[in-house]
Amino acid sequence: MSLLEKKVVVFGYGSQGHAHALNLKDCGFDVSVALREGSVSWDRAEKDGFKVLNLKEGAELADVAMLLVPDENQPELYNRYLKDGLKTGAFLGFAHGFNIHYGQITPREDLNVFMVAPKSPGHKVREKFLEKEGVPALISVYQDPSNVTLQLAKDWAKGVCLNLGVLKTTFKEETETDLFGEQAVLCGGLVELMKAGYETLLKAGYDERLAYFECVHEMKLIVDLVYSKGFAAMRESISNTAEYGDYVTGKKIITKESRENMKETLENIQNGRFAKDFILEGQAGYPILKTMRNRCKEEKIEIIGNQLRDMMSKNR
Ligand SMILES: NC(=O)c1ccc[n+]([C@@H]2O[C@H](COP(=O)([O-])OP(=O)(O)OC[C@H]3O[C@@H](n4cnc5c(N)ncnc54)[C@H](OP(=O)(O)O)[C@@H]3O)[C@@H](O)[C@H]2O)c1
Repeated sequence: MSLLEKKVVVFGYGSQGHAHALNLKDCGFDVSVALREGSVSWDRAEKDGFKVLNLKEGAELADVAMLLVPDENQPELYNRYLKDGLKTGAFLGFAHGFNIHYGQITPREDLNVFMVAPKSPGHKVREKFLEKEGVPALISVYQDPSNVTLQLAKDWAKGVCLNLGVLKTTFKEETETDLFGEQAVLCGGLVELMKAGYETLLKAGYDERLAYFECVHEMKLIVDLVYSKGFAAMRESISNTAEYGDYVTGKKIITKESRENMKETLENIQNGRFAKDFILEGQAGYPILKTMRNRCKEEKIEIIGNQLRDMMSKNR
């Protein structure tokens, strides 16, 4: 039985939720969206053409239930609505292995449990689908009483991510590499690198707008070259001066200590300490997340960035 013959219910209509639901609908699948009562996303999902159900109705309708609410809210959603509400032999999907890997959700034995984790922010999943390009995805099967769960995960990945590059993995490997990537490189590491460069130029008395262009704005242009053709091609595109500076300086910036910190970051992910801290943060009402979010918006680098984006948008 293929995904085409199943009633798909996407729980949540946020970053990943809207992308999975819309992409699958555009591929011709029977997709509904399930949201909590009073959800701020209800109208948007209806305007986008979906039948919107509450969480209980969604659980009862689903042949395939995809959990696309925040990781820290998934256990409650599962325990309250899906554990008893899902049909016998239904399929339960995740876009990240966190709750299965760290034992926060223990699925009923009759459920077929799979993962399709796009290697992309949700809004890019939709954007790249509309551009007919797609994004890479990791797929995995955790429980397979039906013996067809892998095929269903492949169908889901093809519909949502367009088969750009689908790799089979485990929930453990996806979870640990994903958390490591976002903390050490993609988000945590990258933002601190850009800020450190910007602040070094500012402290030396340079114009803050030049510092921003140099250390933040241009990052995308360089990364775009790496994204499309790799490091060597990026280096062909930059000047010999830049390339020579790159080789002799990069390793002085990412030092032995940086690499040791990366290793420690990975160990905290592997031994579950990061997961425990994050779950406690959620239970306490996100004190760190809220403080940092507000603080970041007020930082000088963000204000300069907004001014430069305004200036550039007026000149477009
Ligand atoms: N964000 C990404 O780019 C990304 C990338 C790869 C994998 N993932 C994975 O995809 C999954 C979803 O992440 P996301 O970032 O897309 O989530 P998100 O945007 O934060 O999800 C928001 C949606 O979840 C609903 N929601 C929030 N709390 C809820 C609760 N307690 N009960 C029911 N619904 C609730 C929201 O409802 P309202 O509309 O009512 O606010 C909204 O529709 C996670 O497993 C995540 O790790 C995310």
